[in-house]
Amino acid sequence: MVKLKIIPELIRLLKIIGRECAKLKINAYLVGGPVRDLFLGKANIDLDIVLDKDVKTVLPSLAKLLSAKYIYHPQFKTAKLFLDSLYIDIATAREEIYPCLGSLPRVFPTTDIKKDLFRRDFSINAMAIKICEGGLGELLDPYNGWEDLRKGKIRVLHEKSFLDDPTRIIRAIRFCVRLDFTLEKNTRLWLKKAVSRRVFSQISSARLGNEIFKLLQEKNLLAGIKKLRDLCGLKIIHPQIIFNRRWERYFPEVSKWSRDFVQKTSQKVEEWLIYFIFLTVKLDKDALQELCDKYELGKNNRLLVMHTYELKRIEEAKLHNSKYSQLFNLLKPIFPETIIFLIARLENKSLQKKLFEFLVRCSQIRLYTNGERLKKLGFSPGPIFNKILATLFLAKLDGKISTQREEEDFVKETFLR
Ligand code: CTP
Repeated sequence: MVKLKIIPELIRLLKIIGRECAKLKINAYLVGGPVRDLFLGKANIDLDIVLDKDVKTVLPSLAKLLSAKYIYHPQFKTAKLFLDSLYIDIATAREEIYPCLGSLPRVFPTTDIKKDLFRRDFSINAMAIKICEGGLGELLDPYNGWEDLRKGKIRVLHEKSFLDDPTRIIRAIRFCVRLDFTLEKNTRLWLKKAVSRRVFSQISSARLGNEIFKLLQEKNLLAGIKKLRDLCGLKIIHPQIIFNRRWERYFPEVSKWSRDFVQKTSQKVEEWLIYFIFLTVKLDKDALQELCDKYELGKNNRLLVMHTYELKRIEEAKLHNSKYSQLFNLLKPIFPETIIFLIARLENKSLQKKLFEFLVRCSQIRLYTNGERLKKLGFSPGPIFNKILATLFLAKLDGKISTQREEEDFVKETFLR
């Protein structure tokens, strides 16, 4: 019997689900990541639940009880329940068969939870906790995941695991660095064998990209990239990827400036994108664009990456000699990630500071003037509004004006004369 150390609201939800399933003689289990993290004492609000009967049997009544909306995917017999502040994944227990290496698996429902656990990547992700009344809290650990958690080992459940699903190679690296675990001996051997068989060519670039991006989002990504380099070679991303000692110095810089920026402005920074830009800095424009396409990077992120590409050769002297308003025109649109990329590469500390202050200022400036105020000042709506607001913004950026009164005087002087 394990003691559930998860927040009371989640326990309440699990109990409701368990009770409702029990009424229909269905066994329900919490599985995978949340169980692993529970034992590690790490916060994880994912609720991954597996039932030993078709989810759709219990879905309507559960949704009603939890006042939730849901989506059911009949082809996989999985569902997502949307509550106010979280969602719950519920799946019908299933077996997987891989018709050929690297392809997506064929899936069959099963009533045997052990088979569902066996299709999973690592022993530490193949544990389940029963959440039904009666057996509430009972741990199912047929592949000794708990023991591996204790020993700090990442272990696959069978020899073909990496061949079945090569994304597990990068997942293994990700969990190693996240949890500070090591690969179990055979797992390491099978991983290297799979790499030498060039298994990555068998999965779609989008799936590979997805895993690479997740690795870049790990806290200890520097260790992750080194491990990826040592075990797989960074050529799996692109033949021109570079990662050397100089880069190793840049990475902590990125993390430091991103942290400072978030602290000062409470705005978000997609730090992982900056690392991606660093890794791909040697690619020419076409190759970079192609990689973004293949990895199915979202539209805005792609824009950011390509914009940074255009700015990466900007002369230091230009940055040095420009006023904030000139910097704005030089670097716009202003993406914090682009500016942090530029800052991290600079040797000159005072220039680093100048760019950082510029970035913070850009993010904090708010104009008192808006369309309504301009109308009150006698302007008619039209393209002039944008022109006025942009001019005001630049004047404010340079510190020429600050208060509402100063804004108004500035507009009158500049545009009403
Ligand atoms: N899984 C798997 N093979 C994969 C991906 C996932 O076996 N290639 C299984 C694992 O059991 C995993 C579960 O599906 O625990 C959920 O996957 P995911 O949400 O991607 O991972 P988590 O383990 O929850 O890890 P994270 O904390 O990174 O979300």
